[in-house]
Amino acid sequence: MDKQTETTIRLDLDTQQLASHYDIMSDYQFGVGVILANMLNISPSERVLDIGAGTGRLTCYIANIVGHEGRVIGIDPLKDRIDVACKRAQPNLSFYVGDAYDLSSFDSGAFDVVFFNCVFHWLHDQDRALRECVRVLKPGGRIGISTPSRDHPFYPFEVKKSVLSTERY
Ligand SMILES: C[S@@+](CC[C@H](N)C(=O)[O-])C[C@H]1O[C@@H](n2cnc3c(N)ncnc32)[C@H](O)[C@@H]1O
Repeated sequence: MDKQTETTIRLDLDTQQLASHYDIMSDYQFGVGVILANMLNISPSERVLDIGAGTGRLTCYIANIVGHEGRVIGIDPLKDRIDVACKRAQPNLSFYVGDAYDLSSFDSGAFDVVFFNCVFHWLHDQDRALRECVRVLKPGGRIGISTPSRDHPFYPFEVKKSVLSTERY
């Protein structure tokens, strides 16, 4: 893990205001997620779990791909983000407060696709999260993960690095 991903995540610092700002300012994450969804070849009638769904923009996009015979569930530990996401709920799309480390509310083999969009690098126990994914995936199911990379650093991290490297900080 490089310096960029060593930051400790503080879930207790989220607020309603941050959640609604994230919803407006997450075009980058949404764009990455659309690429990930294409790579996963998500198709009509599939069952999909979005782990760390945030405010649910991408989850909603995927619900439109799987259509009314499919089903998409988004989970996130941040209640304020799930509250925003729930405004996007529709018959084939629902959201719950939940954590990557505990998918016990889902049956084994429940999903065709499980994915983490811009989430996996925040997880301190990635093996545990992956074991949970494997359990809830049906045989032959697909896992998708998008994270920042050294070759294509995430712009806000670059800004943070340059600010924190100034003498004042
Ligand atoms: C950068 S946001 C990405 C949100 C969404 N996937 C998107 O594409 O817009 C990272 C998300 O990871 C979530 N997260 C952090 N730790 C998590 C965990 N242990 N399990 C599930 N999600 C987690 C955060 O609450 C946050 O909503």
